Amino acid sequence: MSNTDTTTATRSRASRLPETLSWQGDNDGFLRLVDQTLLPATVEMRDCRTVQDVWEAIRMLRVRGAPAIGVAAAYGLCLGTREHRSLDREQFLRQIEKTGQYLRDCRPTAVNLAWAVQRVSSLAGETAGNSDKIWQAMLAEAHAMAREDADTCRKIGEAGADLIPDGGGVLTHCNAGALATVAYGTALSLMYVAHERGKRFRVYADETRPLLQGARLTSFELAAAGIDVTVLCDSAAASLMKAGRVQLVVTGADRIAANGDAANKIGTYSVALAARHHNVPFYVAAPLSTFDRAVPSGDAIPIEERSDTEIRAGFGHQTVPDGVHCWNPAFDVTPAELIAGIITERGIIRPVTADAIDTVFDASPSQH
Ligand code: MRU
Repeated sequence: MSNTDTTTATRSRASRLPETLSWQGDNDGFLRLVDQTLLPATVEMRDCRTVQDVWEAIRMLRVRGAPAIGVAAAYGLCLGTREHRSLDREQFLRQIEKTGQYLRDCRPTAVNLAWAVQRVSSLAGETAGNSDKIWQAMLAEAHAMAREDADTCRKIGEAGADLIPDGGGVLTHCNAGALATVAYGTALSLMYVAHERGKRFRVYADETRPLLQGARLTSFELAAAGIDVTVLCDSAAASLMKAGRVQLVVTGADRIAANGDAANKIGTYSVALAARHHNVPFYVAAPLSTFDRAVPSGDAIPIEERSDTEIRAGFGHQTVPDGVHCWNPAFDVTPAELIAGIITERGIIRPVTADAIDTVFDASPSQH
């Protein structure tokens, strides 16, 4: 039985964007997140007090988006080890490893999850002193990661805002916004910064089958910010480009291989192919923590397959006859050759090549 608590504030439409996630309290605190499965109709905060609560929230996409699940996992590791602080140092480090593995296995594609667990675990191993001292350092590191995520996303927005066409249209797929990060988002950060700078543009949000992150989340947060947004069926994106209504496509990413191939929400590859055909530049916006240079190309990126119920009976309504098979990969890989540039907190990688990616990392050796 989970000890997750919820507080509900149901509104027809949010007047203000709820915080994606935040730590409440101090050492005895807990992780509070907005339950994204209920948006946009219901804004309900969910309190995770155990690592099992955090695991369940990530698995069920109550919290989702690569950077957000990374920060959630960092806090999850703190929650899962808090009660073991009476163990001796070696036993405590083993407990961290075990809890970290449990969290890592929750969703396989977004590398930010494994990256965050690794970062907190490494810090723990390097911290001198007893288990309590190590745990305090872990919580401080999770807080630092949450702060950094907001800062990084802002920098991504500033690095890419000039790409937003004044008076034009921008297409995005899934949700790579504030709801997918601690603040601002990655792809949507460009739009927030451009909007602040007075640019006028229209965002087209693919609805993003089967879980509708674009329809439910991207439109929700852009509308709350006063940005002009139109939702379309995924299958309408190519026609929109053909009609000349889109001058830029920008999406987020869940994992970027050493050669620049980028995994993102299923359907992104189709959008990139259509963009190439129609000569619309296709950009990816992602922090350096989304790169996995241990993976040489997109072929080696693990792709999460989710329950066929998401297709068969999405949102509780049966749309596929009983006995018919469904295939439900949650992500696909867009090859680097279709990507005009990758917008990071260190600027735009353009053209997208392994050498150009290495150059960015050589300038910031602390990143993996
Ligand atoms: O399954 P989800 O909703 O976690 O998928 C999210 C995406 O594909 C996002 O585009 C990606 O994580 C980037 S979020 C800044």
